Amino acid sequence: MNANILTGFNYVSGALRYALQLDNHEIILDLLKLLGDMLNFYRKYWRVPVDKLYEDALRTVKRPEERLALAAIEAFGRDMLEAAICFSESASAINPEVKYRVEYLSFLIRGGRIEQARQFLETLGAQFPGNQSISDEQFACSVAEKFWAYDYYDLLAEIHSRHTPNVYLEIGVATGKSMALVKQSTTAVGIDPSTAAREMLAYLSPENNPQFYRMTSDDFFANQDVEKAMGKRHFDVAFIDGLHHFDQVLRDFINLEKFAGPSSLILIHDCLPIDRRVATKERATLFWTGDVWRIIPCLQTVRPDLEIVTLPLPPSGLALVRRMNPASAVLSRHYSDIVEEFEKMGLPESWEDRCELLAVNSDQSAFRVDHFFPKGGWP
Ligand SMILES: C[S@@+](CC[C@H](N)C(=O)[O-])C[C@H]1O[C@@H](n2cnc3c(N)ncnc32)[C@H](O)[C@@H]1O
Repeated sequence: MNANILTGFNYVSGALRYALQLDNHEIILDLLKLLGDMLNFYRKYWRVPVDKLYEDALRTVKRPEERLALAAIEAFGRDMLEAAICFSESASAINPEVKYRVEYLSFLIRGGRIEQARQFLETLGAQFPGNQSISDEQFACSVAEKFWAYDYYDLLAEIHSRHTPNVYLEIGVATGKSMALVKQSTTAVGIDPSTAAREMLAYLSPENNPQFYRMTSDDFFANQDVEKAMGKRHFDVAFIDGLHHFDQVLRDFINLEKFAGPSSLILIHDCLPIDRRVATKERATLFWTGDVWRIIPCLQTVRPDLEIVTLPLPPSGLALVRRMNPASAVLSRHYSDIVEEFEKMGLPESWEDRCELLAVNSDQSAFRVDHFFPKGGWP
């Protein structure tokens, strides 16, 4: 088994064994979900056979509901959606804790049974009023109805495998999942004040060991030699997925643009909030996009020279921006006024108006991702 995959697996299964020893029900299911998601990730994006690791994980857990929960996640990873629903339903019948019921609910949604999920949501909502993970599933139902079927990891995976950038820079690494899609030949740089260290990540690329900077993006751009880190003057692809505040995302964009070349692409996550409740600057929900969305009308108004499209990729939209101009100083010169002006803007309630404001391309069949990449590859 690949050493990087084993590092992440041992890290999470070690935490799981410890939680089982302490009998800490609060986190056992969360760790099982993380472990299963990791294994599904390697199976899906790296075509790694993970059956043996699943067997090891199943042997670690003893309670039937925990085994069933893991079996449901594995079935989902194999596209056996009905089996996943069935296993998670059985787990929640054995253990009626709200977490197991929410897990069943999430498989109903992922399995496309939205009407049944909405009915179950009503029952659960009445039983556990104010429970945030139940509200999250409400948002997930709407995402399943309105967004495309493939998510932003699928698009990132396609970018890395079909258009392999020479230099990839990521702001906001978290568990390392998006970073773990990076191919061997890419110079990858990851920035995150909390987790940007190899030993803290659950997901690692099997063939790339990125450079990590454990600091805020502001610190990185102010105090690091960015060109030296990238090994080049320009990045090819950068992904903004750090602090979900508009003023921060704008600063990240301004800082990145200085290192953009003629064919560079900037991806911005969380630009299409499914509900106004998740789109506030201060976090009030578990599932939270912040007010990142403001960056779209802001760039469209102040920088009409940029080309921008937002894709309705689950769970919160991904914007693609190109035609950057490192010489442009309009955003930095008027930064405070721009922040003040766009922080006054309200997110439209109607989905159609919201999509229009946020430059959403809803027509999946008309979208060609190749349009955003240089013909003949990166220079
Ligand atoms: C949504 S997560 C990133 C998810 C990851 N890109 C993925 O798709 O798998 C956001 C991360 O941004 C980090 N973050 C918060 N403030 C930041 C900042 N000022 N600069 C860089 N990263 C930041 C958080 O620590 C968190 O890990």
